[in-house]
Amino acid sequence: MLVENNVALQALNTFHIVAKAHRLVRIHSEADASALCADPQWRDVPKFVLGGGSNLVITGDVKPLVLKVEVMGRRLLRETPKHFVIEAGAGENWHDFVAWTLEQGLPGLENLAMIPGTVGASPVQNIGAYGVELQDRFESLDAIDLQTGQVFTLDAAQCGFGYRDSVFKHAAGDKGLGLKDRALILRVRFALPKAWKPVLGYADLDKKQAEYGGVQPTAQQLFDWVCQIRRAKLPDPAVIGNAGSFFKNPTVSAEQCADIIARDPKVVHYKLADGSFKLAAGWLIDACGWRGKSIGQAGVYEKQALVLVNRGSNSGAQGATGGEVMTLAGAIQTSVYERFGLRLETEPVVL
Ligand code: EPU
Repeated sequence: MLVENNVALQALNTFHIVAKAHRLVRIHSEADASALCADPQWRDVPKFVLGGGSNLVITGDVKPLVLKVEVMGRRLLRETPKHFVIEAGAGENWHDFVAWTLEQGLPGLENLAMIPGTVGASPVQNIGAYGVELQDRFESLDAIDLQTGQVFTLDAAQCGFGYRDSVFKHAAGDKGLGLKDRALILRVRFALPKAWKPVLGYADLDKKQAEYGGVQPTAQQLFDWVCQIRRAKLPDPAVIGNAGSFFKNPTVSAEQCADIIARDPKVVHYKLADGSFKLAAGWLIDACGWRGKSIGQAGVYEKQALVLVNRGSNSGAQGATGGEVMTLAGAIQTSVYERFGLRLETEPVVL
């Protein structure tokens, strides 16, 4: 097992924050992960599992042993009467995997095109976009328990999926079975429906459909539309560092929603099935005047206020520090709280 020392992390996190890992190991297989867990030198050392680094803010050099997951492979595993079950290694790039499923004639993931990150990270925050969440297509996953070295399988219920949430984001004791910093995901399986239907109904997709004369899109067309929408709204991490949406869209009660509407009748809100309301955090931040603003090199993206960016990420200079990003996030939370009486929750993992 090769342990690398003082590894630059700038290229390994999509915010392109400059930091080092004191020690880093690349995990290519289940055998690598098992060997690490069995090795007395590393067994009890604190560890941090790194996927594509696309949902991460690094605020300093990283002391825990970084496990960079590079387990590859993708295949059609089996068929059930209603589904194709496909399996992918946790280290596979998410978008390339989605594109591959379409090349194989296996639609179902097209609404999730262009989400940065890896297959292994997708269940951690139950990625979602344009009316589809990972949990809608998830079958099961295999992971290794970094404390015991045991490989185990979880189904959807055991993953405890919620909005941008799962057991992998919670420590033990917090919300039942918590697996934060404990599990390394090795492989993920997806159940793609044989009776495929496009998932439309999301405002941006409906606009595209109208633009294309109201056609019923194929999966490939839907994939292309999602790519176009995301390119127009969201910054490409290869060009400007970012971690996607920085805050979750808050859910509030009907009374809270009425209170916020009284403060500003234009607030973007959607009624949920249980009578509560989901608010657009991007709108709230925008309404507080943050769009396009910066603190140091950390900024609020001009075209989507929910996304914080590293303005110096590709200038060859140091760029934003994680501290600057978190200072900006804190200032945004304070002004949204002062204006709307609501505390925004952050989405990325802060290390
Ligand atoms: N809005 C503004 N100003 C802004 C940004 C948004 O007024 O600066 C308004 C928009 O006009 C729209 C509403 O807010 O009416 C919602 O915006 P949008 O449709 O862009 O989606 P979002 O709620 O901001 C969520 C996800 C995205 C996902 C899109 C599409 C979260 C935290 N974010 O964004 O996910 O791609 O919907 O489904 O749920 C991510 O998690 O990293 C991510 C990009």
